[in-house]
Amino acid sequence: MKIIQEAAELQKLALSYKRTGKTIALVPTMGYLHAGHASLIDIARQRADVVIVSIFVNPTQFGPNEDLDKYPRDFEHDRELCAAHGADIIYAPTPGGMYAADASVEIVENHLSKVLCGKTRPIHFKGVCTVVAKLFNLTLPDVAVFGEKDAQQLLIIRRMVRDLNFPVEIVAAPLVRQEDGLALSSRNRYLSCDEKARALVLSRALFAARKAIEANGIEAVDGVIEAMKVEITNAGGRIDYVEARDTANLDAPTAATKEILLALAVYFGTTRLIDNQIIGLN
Ligand code: PAJ
Repeated sequence: MKIIQEAAELQKLALSYKRTGKTIALVPTMGYLHAGHASLIDIARQRADVVIVSIFVNPTQFGPNEDLDKYPRDFEHDRELCAAHGADIIYAPTPGGMYAADASVEIVENHLSKVLCGKTRPIHFKGVCTVVAKLFNLTLPDVAVFGEKDAQQLLIIRRMVRDLNFPVEIVAAPLVRQEDGLALSSRNRYLSCDEKARALVLSRALFAARKAIEANGIEAVDGVIEAMKVEITNAGGRIDYVEARDTANLDAPTAATKEILLALAVYFGTTRLIDNQIIGLN
């Protein structure tokens, strides 16, 4: 497994793979890798000759009062996990290596980014789209794998690829949870034992909501969301949002909605957790 820091070296290598007919899969990450990330690498491994994992805590997707400085890092552990899951290359640039000091071009998605996480994190998806577009240009992937844990991010990346004609197939990976239901996240390490126990309310409430919506359809949505808010608040969570959206456009669901994204962002202490369920309607 190669570890590359230089953008030019990575791009040259990717080009040489393409010229010899090899397919490339990209797994973009911010490191501090866990079994959720590993599942993406496993999918990538099945889909291409060369698997590239990028590890980069991207400063442009963090707001001024967010956790950029304390975002957890452990490169040695990440390196071992990538090797164990058959990655061929880790791309781990420095912030200086990723962005020119006077960088002045960004990618802005104008519809899907306005709701859910985009409301309280207004610059977040601009940073995500820009860095992912740069990673696509540096790694020339045939396939890129993104987790349903960040369902809004996945939809926005799909939209960017469609609207800007990136020649890459976006593959969705299912959300990986602990046995007790907690969605795996690099940010879980911020949680105290007590907060971790309280945070189990999120998956519990989402699973119950899924059942109710599957049984009773779109009419159940408003009541289900109110019940979730009460349950989460009673468990000590501070709600950023709990919402249902149509996965086709992230607008409010209507009678024509085929699939609902039931998504939430909730603080336990100072840690903001996200989780979701994607629910098909008949
Ligand atoms: P990060 O939070 O490190 O996540 C990297 C990828 O792993 C994302 O596609 C995310 O959805 C996926 N992932 C994280 N936890 C998961 C879980 N429990 N189950 C399944 N997949 C999971 O998302 C980012 O980094 C960044 O925004 C990035 C796309 C790298 C751009 O900087």
